[in-house]
Amino acid sequence: NMINLIDKLSTTHTLSYDEMYQLIEHRNEELANYLFEKARQVRILYYGHDVYMRGLIEFTNYCRNDCYYCGIRKSNCNAERYRLTKEQILECCDVGYELGFRTFVLQGGEDGYYTDKILADIVSSIKAKYPDCAITLSLGEKSYESYKLLYEAGADRYLLRHETANAQHYSKLHPPVMSLKNRKQCLYNLKEIGYQVGCGFMVGSPFQTTECLVDDLMFIKELQPHMVGIGPFIPHKDTPFAGKPAGTLELTLFLLGIIRLMLPYVLLPATTALGTIHPKGRELGILAGANVVMPNLSPKEVRSKYLLYDNKICTGDEAAECRMCLTHRIESIGYKLVVSRGDCKKPN
Ligand code: SAM
Ligand code: FES
Repeated sequence: NMINLIDKLSTTHTLSYDEMYQLIEHRNEELANYLFEKARQVRILYYGHDVYMRGLIEFTNYCRNDCYYCGIRKSNCNAERYRLTKEQILECCDVGYELGFRTFVLQGGEDGYYTDKILADIVSSIKAKYPDCAITLSLGEKSYESYKLLYEAGADRYLLRHETANAQHYSKLHPPVMSLKNRKQCLYNLKEIGYQVGCGFMVGSPFQTTECLVDDLMFIKELQPHMVGIGPFIPHKDTPFAGKPAGTLELTLFLLGIIRLMLPYVLLPATTALGTIHPKGRELGILAGANVVMPNLSPKEVRSKYLLYDNKICTGDEAAECRMCLTHRIESIGYKLVVSRGDCKKPN
């Protein structure tokens, strides 16, 4: 009985591989509503009705990688490439701070232009100016030493989606130079160094099976991350996956609910991709157990160039517009956007 499985998950925070498989395969609307109810209960226990916001600064869309799903992959000659200077990045933080952001997420392609030295300088400059803010990095795979240097420069958190915890599936999404083994090693290194770490995956990526999803959930359980970023895969017209279908709202929400019950303390964003596939995607994500939103703080001139997938929302809006828009959206469902670093309430 699937209701029993949801009860078991909400009291023990774990299910066996088979149970998880059954739960995903047998999901329906009624089960989903029961799951979301439970997920909201734990989320409210730890975080009340607070929704944390992170200011996302997409500072470069140059990338040395060639992931088959991604619009800024190096083979996409149609991508208009850009880089932000340290001054431009600090200006984004200034605007963000005024709007109440206390976490800045620096995200970019794997761009060799930004050496460890340049990045450390950017991180320490932000930290010096805004000591009450957390800095999250999302810069892809780096060596242990690079991660350590950036941590020592003042970075607090690191987002690196594992993308899929199934090695065979991983090889269908990435060129052979990339490996799941290295991806996982990076996550363990980040944890060891002391970062609050986020992993995650795309829902409905090409060739994904229910087994892949269970592998993802089992890996997340094992890693015990502070954050989990999941959002639907959405095709980009200039990639090898151009014709593939997007992931669904329904499955993404169901997985958000499961992850909330598996890791009651986790910081779980209702992603921009979720807001892209459905006009109320982010609100529904919050109602399924998510507790974070990550609007864009990138300068308006570059927003329409950081396109990982087609039809991305908010590419024409100013940071202040997104802040207002989200305030209304979150309030419309009875939750509240708060001014806070929004650290994870995980005991360790
Ligand atoms: N380069 C860094 C990295 O690889 O972690 C950070 C930037 S990368 C573009 C951020 C995330 O975007 C990836 O982890 C991936 O899950 C997501 N992404 C890329 N292409 C996507 C697509 N077509 N649909 C949905 N999400 C996508
Ligand atoms: Fe950007 Fe709504 S969040 S316009």
